[in-house]
Amino acid sequence: MALAIAGGTPLRTRPFPAWPEYGKPEEEALLSVLHSRSWGGYHESVKELERRFAALHEVQHAVACSNGTVAVEVALRSVGVGPGDEVIVPPFTFVASASAILLTGATPVFADIDAATFNLSVQAAEAAITPRTKAIVVVHFGGRPAEMDAFRCLADQHGLKLIEDAAHAHGARWMGTPVGAWGDVATFSFQAFKLMTAGEGGIIISKHADVADRCWAYCNQGRRRNGGWFEHYTLGTNYRLSAFQAAVLNAQLDRLEQQTRTRAANVAYLRQQLETVPGLYLPPDDPHASQQPYYLLTFWYDSAAFDGLPRDQFIAAIQAEGIPMKPTYPHPLYRNPIFPTSAHLQLPVVERICRDGIWLSHTALLGDRADIDDVVAGVRKVREHANDLIATAAK
Ligand SMILES: Cc1ncc(COP(=O)(O)O)c(C=O)c1O
Repeated sequence: MALAIAGGTPLRTRPFPAWPEYGKPEEEALLSVLHSRSWGGYHESVKELERRFAALHEVQHAVACSNGTVAVEVALRSVGVGPGDEVIVPPFTFVASASAILLTGATPVFADIDAATFNLSVQAAEAAITPRTKAIVVVHFGGRPAEMDAFRCLADQHGLKLIEDAAHAHGARWMGTPVGAWGDVATFSFQAFKLMTAGEGGIIISKHADVADRCWAYCNQGRRRNGGWFEHYTLGTNYRLSAFQAAVLNAQLDRLEQQTRTRAANVAYLRQQLETVPGLYLPPDDPHASQQPYYLLTFWYDSAAFDGLPRDQFIAAIQAEGIPMKPTYPHPLYRNPIFPTSAHLQLPVVERICRDGIWLSHTALLGDRADIDDVVAGVRKVREHANDLIATAAK
């Protein structure tokens, strides 16, 4: 059968599961806040979210906030990062992981990622340490937990603060211990595509009471938790989450475990099925990554296995078949003009994954095996017609 991109019938016209999932619990929670006439960030639903999210990650403290970007900025400030400091960060992440460093007045120092995990390489991070290094921002990319035992050791050996950007990794665990329980402080996003969402939103968690208190004060105009409304003991701003957002997030939290199980089962099946189709490779699973929520599944694309078909042509063809694969970031983060001091960098692994990487988002993993069969059939179909596509492009 001809490829859809060449005028044939698409393999799939049925949509993948819609995101976000919602139902009666979200509706009832929203109405309950509405009827309470208490819609701001001091509502009980915010406190409930903080309590439950901290408990899920086995830490004592959580501070809800406006989004995952300010969460990273506040987390950095809470461990004392500021002007004159260097902070090590991977270049394969969303801009916020590094722009938040700039916002504190510190300098991001990019270190390469590991080809087998897409997370910051422990060796590259170690090599980037200088006398000015104050902290490391580790990103659990795509929901795959970074090697947190090694990063904890590295940070302790060098007296560095360890910040986990867990925007993709709600509920992930490394060696049985949740993300967020390894670092000095950790941050999450509840933005529209994230694994739990209220459209926007974020949360900061920590096992340290003083760190959490500083985060709370910064997000609440420098107040003390039990202090007066017009008492501001330190400089802060308003980064609060609203009661409506917290209400939705409490309902979303009830869905997380089941969704994580569904995605994990579908990824295991996809892994098995892809063994029969050369050219698209998932990095091996690591038993230490004891819980992975699979926010973004990242594949290496080997064009040689597709008769030399360039990645972007493969993606255009498979999208036309109804399979929502996408290219990874267009370039490493350091190529953005907001990081002029890093513009000269050419870190090999991140350069390669930005050229040869493909993403499948978590929503495609929330359905059943028939969805996964379609993904694999799409890859196979494009592969069978790769030569025709190349010939057409050459005309
Ligand atoms: C790794 C990472 N960190 C931080 C953020 C920022 O989160 P938000 O969009 O909620 O500001 C994102 C968001 O997409 C992200 O992917």
